Amino acid sequence: METEKCIRERRSVRRYAEGRVSEEDVRAILEAARWAPSGLNNQPWRVAVVEDRDKAEEVAACTKYSSIVAGAPLLLAVFLDREVSYDRDKDIMAVGAFIQNALLTVHSRGLGAVWLGEILNQKDRVREILRVPESYELMAVIAAGRPGEEPEEKPRRPLDELVLQHF
Ligand SMILES: Cc1cc2nc3c(=O)[nH]c(=O)nc-3n(C[C@H](O)[C@H](O)[C@H](O)COP(=O)(O)O)c2cc1C
Repeated sequence: METEKCIRERRSVRRYAEGRVSEEDVRAILEAARWAPSGLNNQPWRVAVVEDRDKAEEVAACTKYSSIVAGAPLLLAVFLDREVSYDRDKDIMAVGAFIQNALLTVHSRGLGAVWLGEILNQKDRVREILRVPESYELMAVIAAGRPGEEPEEKPRRPLDELVLQHF
């Protein structure tokens, strides 16, 4: 899929149809994500992949968006590796780029996903459930699957509102 079309047509998908995400799709999503830019190329992202239903239910209990999490055949819990981190702000931005690469690849493959941030209210609990050491900090959970809805597009601020100066 052409890049600008993919960016423009991606939506947050919160309901999923039956069926797993193929191994090939999971690999392609992670493969694209890891080509994100990062400061000093430190690649501070790490991922826990969750397909197991019981595990997904445990993670779902950590957020008010539990129905999204429990209904998603694939969860990607994205962590910041604090041991390779050199600048917290920059490293968090790099993880954001990693996540966006993942979301765009999901969409380009005809799948759907949503970036979940509210779950960070219980980030240590999620980390423990996923048996990830304390040096990794949860940044987001991506819930993904075959789309079970076609979400409306959400409005964006017009360009002239976001460009502060143009010299
Ligand atoms: C940092 C961040 C955190 C988000 N957290 C949540 C969340 O906890 N629950 C949720 O349903 N959507 C969450 N979203 C998705 C946004 O609601 C969504 O991207 C926004 O409304 C625009 O809609 P669109 O992605 O369909 O264009 C989050 C998105 C970002 C970037």
